[in-house]
Formats: sequence, C-alpha cells, structure tokens
Amino acid sequence: MIEQELQTEVKRRRTFAIISHPDAGKTTLTEKLLLFGGAIRLAGEVKGRKVGKFATSDWMEIEKQRGISVTSSVMQFDYQGYRINILDTPGHQDFSEDTYRTLVAADSAVMILDAAKGVEAQTIKLFKVCRMRNIPIFTFINKMDRYGKEPLELLEELEEVLGIRSCPMNWPIGMGDEFSGIYDRQYNRIERYAVGEKPEREFLTLGAEGIENESLKGQLAPGQWEKLYEDVMLLDIAGDPFDREKILKGELTPVYFGSAINKFGVQTFLESFVELALPPSPRHSTVGDVPVDHPFSGFIFKIQANMNPAHRDRIAFLRVCSGKFERGMNVDQVRTGKKLRLSQPQQFLAQDRNIVEEAWPGDIIGLHDPGVFQIGDTLGLNCDFQFDRLPQFSPEHFARVFNMNTSKYKQFQKGVEQLVEEGTIQVFKTVGRAAEEMILGVVGELQFEVFSFRLQAEYGAQIRLERLPYQLARWIKSDQPIQPEKLSSLSSITTRDQQGNYVVLCESDYDLHWLEEQNPDLIFAESSF
Ligand code: G4P
Repeated sequence: MIEQELQTEVKRRRTFAIISHPDAGKTTLTEKLLLFGGAIRLAGEVKGRKVGKFATSDWMEIEKQRGISVTSSVMQFDYQGYRINILDTPGHQDFSEDTYRTLVAADSAVMILDAAKGVEAQTIKLFKVCRMRNIPIFTFINKMDRYGKEPLELLEELEEVLGIRSCPMNWPIGMGDEFSGIYDRQYNRIERYAVGEKPEREFLTLGAEGIENESLKGQLAPGQWEKLYEDVMLLDIAGDPFDREKILKGELTPVYFGSAINKFGVQTFLESFVELALPPSPRHSTVGDVPVDHPFSGFIFKIQANMNPAHRDRIAFLRVCSGKFERGMNVDQVRTGKKLRLSQPQQFLAQDRNIVEEAWPGDIIGLHDPGVFQIGDTLGLNCDFQFDRLPQFSPEHFARVFNMNTSKYKQFQKGVEQLVEEGTIQVFKTVGRAAEEMILGVVGELQFEVFSFRLQAEYGAQIRLERLPYQLARWIKSDQPIQPEKLSSLSSITTRDQQGNYVVLCESDYDLHWLEEQNPDLIFAESSF
C-alpha cells in the first residue's frame, strides 16, 4: 500500500531552484508560478512578504537597514496534479554559500536571463554548480516586452559563455513594442502576447502548414513573419534537435521566451517544465545509490538562524531523499549515532510556516535545531549510511579575525565553531608560517556582517575583522603527497580547511594561473570535491 502511495507521490514531485543574476526577474517569475499554482492570490505577495515581514522583525538590524532578506525560503504548491517545490536561492547582496548548497538539494534548475543582458556573472557561478551535479537546466529568457539582444545571439551566448547547447522550445515574434507572441515549437501553435490581466492564454493552432499558415501571415506586422520564418528555418537546420535524454543529463538546455511581469509565457513554460523535468531520483551515499523507496532518509543542506524573531532558534532544512516521512518519527542521526524525535517538522509557503504531518522524497522540511545539526548530516529510519558530504565552494572575500575581549575567548571560540557548522563562514588555517593564523572566507560579503553581528548578539563576543586581498580559494588535489612550500607566491597563501585539505587563497585569476603553470601535476579545484 505504502509502496504504491510512495511511487505516486514521488512521480508527481518536481523540486527545483531558480538561478539568475539579480534583477533578471526571479522574484517576478516565482510569484507568477505561485499564482498559477493557486498558492497566492495577489501579485506582489512574495516581495511584499519578504520586505514587510522582515522589516517588522528584529532578527537582523542589517535586514532592516537594507530592506533585504538574508534568509530564504522554500515554496510548495500544486499544479495540474504535480507537487512543486521551489527552493529559493538568495541572490542579491545576500548571495552566500547557502545559494550554492540549495542547488545541491534541487533536482533541476531554472535559469532566468534578462533578454537585454544575456548571461551575467552570478548566473555563471550558479550554472557551474548545476553543471557539477549534471542536473537538468531549463532556461527562461525574460523581459521580451523590452528591446533586448537578438534571440539567436542569446543562444550563442549560452554556448560560448556557459558551454551548453540549447534547444528553443518556443521562439519570440518581435520584441519590445513589437513583441507579438511566441511560436511554440513543441505544440505547433502561436501564443499571442497580450498585456493586462487576461486570465486565459490565446492560441492560434497552426496545423500541417506550421508557420506557413496563411492566417498567421495575415496577423503579423510587416516583416515579422519573414523574420520568424528565417529564424525557424535556421533553428530547424542548424540548431540542436530536442533530445530529452540530453536535457536530463544537463547537456542540452530547453529555452523558453516570455515576459514574467506580464505573466506571458510563464504558464506555457510551467506546463512544459513539469512534463520534462525529472521526479526525485536515487542519491549517492556511503553504501551506493539510495533508491527513493528505501525507508525514510534525508540530509540537511542549510541551517538558518532566527527565522522567527519570537524564538531565537535555528531551523535546519532537510531534503527528503527516500521513503515516507511522518511527524514524530524517531530517526538516526548517523554522524553522532544519536536517536532524534522529529516532533515539530515544518513546511513553508513563502515565509509562512506550517507543521507538516508527512513528507515524501523531493520535499523539504524544516527541523527545529537547538544546535544539534550540521550541514550535510544524514537522518533516517534505522539508518547506517551517510549521503555524500556537501562540497564547500570557493569564498570570494577573506579576513583575519581577532577576538577583542580576552575574557570572552570561550564564547568567541564556541560562536565561530557554531557559525562554521551552520555554514555561515568557512575557516582556513595558515600553514608554513611561524604562528598559525585563522582566516575566514565567505561567498557573499554580507556574511561578514552577519558573522560579526551574531557573534556579538548571541555569544557576547566582540571581534575585529581585518580584510585580506584574496579573492578566490582553490582546493589542491593530487595523487602524490602535496608539498605546501611549492604553492607559495607573493600574492597567495597556503592554508588547510576544517577537514585538513590543502587550500590556496589567491589575490587574482592571474596569480592562480601562475600557480597552475608552476604546478602542472596538481589540480586546483573550485570546490572541495
Ligand atoms: P530578481 O528577483 O531576479 O532580482 O528580479 P525581480 O523579479 O525583482 O525583477 C527585477 C525588475 O525587473 C523589477 O523591476 C521587475 O518588475 C522587472 N521585471 C521582471 N520581469 C519583467 C518583464 O518581463 N518585463 C519587464 N519589462 N520588467 C520585468 P523594478 O522596477 O526593479 O521593481 P518593481 O518596482 O517593478 O518591483
């Protein structure tokens, strides 16, 4: 009975994260997706909540001052029988290692590009993490209601900058003021662009003639049909054909065009996405792949402090990987060998929390954390395996840290330890120097402020940070014993991470290339795996 229910629940799950550069339209698209799923009724609710709720909270002065959300959420809704989990990836100033780790818990990614800007810096970083995991990547090219780059140029950019082949599922007709819709290659129809709150989409079914359909020719502005015909011929002859296998392996990205703010193209995208994307699949562990029908198991991918200002608690986010989760379950925490009762699991919609009675593979649940969980922890029913450890990703900002109050040294140490466990910061210890130094690394600059604030607020420790000029970290890999002295240069430093791996911190790409040239037998990896 439960096996059957499990198969049904797994089959309808779609768990994904959205990757984009700030301002490409992630919030807007998320909001429209929630709207189609009936999860919210009013446009503006996602953003409104984000700012409104946190503005009244005292959780972080930083948030209040900047009007941004340091925290991020998980959103769940139903669409046409599918259960969709969107993992929000913090993206503005709150870009951090959490953003990367969220991608480790997702089964696929939706990449949003602003049609005028193409592939931007933050998108490249996030794309690399998705590539590492070979998860399917769906591309939504947004803001077609504005004048942007030529669609063919955007496809070229995907290939040249990101190195991924693309297959347009639909194609825009005009752009900006002349934008009149999309030609849907998948369903052989035209979807007309209309601004406003029209509830229904308007289609023109093309039939056997395809885009040579006479009534289409009559409906487009002068020159638009010819341009569409030319582009589509070129795609048919020179473009990559649709290949689901390649899409699922992350080798080919299906591309959709639209205008999120006008809801245009979003529902069409969603329908195609739920059909093409994969449900949760087996995840690798110390005993090999764990199938989704194994008894309950999951792993912690994010720990977040003080989401609710009324309780100074932490929430650990667990991705369910196998089996049915039920509230009140006694599970094993494999790292410590302890049994834990999960009595108050929570689920999320935008920023609201509800107690969850059950969850299935692909779902994310929030667990109250009195300080017992670590990033990467495996929890499970009668569980004796651990899922693969989560990699650490290269920080971009580094600083030395000094404890300013010697009588609070213990609190300082405890605070640093806890914040490392939560994944707020990474710690590197210098090697080959007279006195070992502690260097902190963060992916997003704001994490330094969060770190200082929390050490003071929660541990009573006062610190001083001295910023260092390094901009990237590379994990050194080799079959041979590593000789750290060979890794020194004027503008880099050799360290070890928490696990004892050698890591070099460099001031620039130029320094890194120099080191790579000097050490051709070593691998300089962007993440710890
Ligand atoms: P983000 O979460 O990726 O950072 O982007 P967000 O959705 O906040 O969108 C960034 C800006 O782009 C917003 O304008 C938003 O209204 C606009 N935008 C999103 N989708 C489209 C689209 O399809 N067409 C056009 N023309 N604009 C779009 P803003 O002025 O910064 O904010 P707001 O005052 O409109 O909220």
